[in-house]
Amino acid sequence: MTANELRRKYIEFFVEKGHAQISGKSLIPENDPTVLFTTAGMHPLVPYLLGEPHPAGDRLVNYQKCIRTGDIEDVGDQSHLTFFEMLGNWSLGDYFKEEAIRMSYEFLTSSAWLGIPPERLSVTVFAGDEEVSRDDESASVWRALGIPEERIYYLPRSDNWWGPAGATGPCGPDSEMFYDTGIPGSAESRPGVNDGKYMEIWNDVFMQYNKQGDGSYVPLSQQNVDTGMGIERTVAVLQGKKSVYETEVFQPILQNLGDIFSVSYGNDEETDRSLRIISDHIKAATFILGDENGVSPSNVGQGYILRRLIRRAVRHGRKLLGREDMFLHQPAKTIIEMYRDAYPELGRNADKVLDEVVGEEKRFLDTLQKGEHEFEKMLPKLLEEPSGVIPGEVAFRLYDTFGFPIEITEELASEHKLQVDREGFDEAFREHQERSKMDANQTFKGGLADHSEHTTKLHTATHLLHKALRDVLGDHVAQKGSNITPERLRFDFSHPEKMSKEQIKEVERIVNEKIGEDLPVRYETMTLEEARENGAMALFGDKYDEVVKVYSVGDYSKEVCGGPHVSRTGELGGFRITKEQSSSQGVRRIKAVVGNGEGR
Ligand code: ALA
Repeated sequence: MTANELRRKYIEFFVEKGHAQISGKSLIPENDPTVLFTTAGMHPLVPYLLGEPHPAGDRLVNYQKCIRTGDIEDVGDQSHLTFFEMLGNWSLGDYFKEEAIRMSYEFLTSSAWLGIPPERLSVTVFAGDEEVSRDDESASVWRALGIPEERIYYLPRSDNWWGPAGATGPCGPDSEMFYDTGIPGSAESRPGVNDGKYMEIWNDVFMQYNKQGDGSYVPLSQQNVDTGMGIERTVAVLQGKKSVYETEVFQPILQNLGDIFSVSYGNDEETDRSLRIISDHIKAATFILGDENGVSPSNVGQGYILRRLIRRAVRHGRKLLGREDMFLHQPAKTIIEMYRDAYPELGRNADKVLDEVVGEEKRFLDTLQKGEHEFEKMLPKLLEEPSGVIPGEVAFRLYDTFGFPIEITEELASEHKLQVDREGFDEAFREHQERSKMDANQTFKGGLADHSEHTTKLHTATHLLHKALRDVLGDHVAQKGSNITPERLRFDFSHPEKMSKEQIKEVERIVNEKIGEDLPVRYETMTLEEARENGAMALFGDKYDEVVKVYSVGDYSKEVCGGPHVSRTGELGGFRITKEQSSSQGVRRIKAVVGNGEGR
């Protein structure tokens, strides 16, 4: 079964079971400071898992592009991926454990669907701890379906608990399904041990808790089910392949790279590792650049991850190529062709993706040249060092200031019969990471769940701001991006020039006037078509489901949006623009606060 077939079958199965298919969402979460990227299908659904009604109903199914960046340095082995696709079905306060597990079992084993022999399946359930008791209910459903006790594993929170996606939010115990590959495992073999024998293919999460900022778990108002099946892994096992790289979701990329480098995959482990790294990283980079809310390479946030992915791919390519050609746009093109049917935004943004890939590759090659130049300048002094060892801090400075990868410093060093104090470098690196982790924790402190009230106010203020900007500057103003942290809103919009002081004052005045009028905020659900006919503003090139929510603020603003919002504008308090600046060519950026400037 191919990935395309699996995607189709999964959706068809759950639609037959009364689920509405909703579109996957952007990889770059909006209005959510808790994570950099969409890491699972549930992530864009957080407000609905917390109790907000979903316009498509309480049984949903979709496929979602996901990025997980926790293990970038692990990519290169047979299984870790940065980018992957997740199939998911959800119950928002509708069915719970029994029905979820029964449907999973039917889809996996029925000959009409995946037809996996039941004896190949093992499952895990939550073993329980002081906070939440053992999940005997799930285990008994599995037993009733015919999974014998010896293939039901009770595992602790580290294995059988999912979420939240960020620091806070919905989460709960889960039950995971594993496929026995038949490969002999280690002595400790069991589901969850990564020795090749058991491959996790699906996870049913029973989301009943909301994790708070202080680490406590509060029961949610509704019992939800959130499931996730990784497409790449599942097709690999269904096709009897040892790894995702041997399936059609990677083969065309590997072939393309093989042609570029005149090598072929499967002959030499070190070459293969580099080929896997390049193909994973350029796939993730292509999807990030080609996203509806695509970002560009930079030194912060998502842009920084994108930069790291591209540069790591280039570095491995350069090592294989042995020369400095630009090559990365070629696999990017292959990836766009492979995925443009399932993800039409890749086709729409193809030119941008290729331009950005070329641009970043060029910048990196320049960096390498500059770094080499710096290295040459330092060289006489380094050669005087009797130990022949380059201190860790020096290597770290090259890395930190010039973006010069440590491996290249080591390469150059060895050309001059020098060594790098790798431990010293790692030490300096760790200190730096600790510092940035502390910074990140500062930024991510809070998030939607525990500061939802203030975040919600900022969200409503964003709608008023959007409309006021159109009133003051003209109808060419269109939203280009929005980001809300507990402290402030940030709104990017198309406008060719700097706003004058008077214009800023006027926008503030209008928004405050609408707040003063204490307008009611309401929503209706309708088709996207109807929303357009009703004159609702719709966000920049986002993907919408068939049925959408349209929020109106009095008669003043009307916008397609998922919510949540406050119920009356009077709740917002004073609105103040704190900054107006350029964001990129033809796009301005406003930062603003509400509640008389108090934020968090
Ligand atoms: N959210 C769950 C996961 O990603 C389904 O495994």
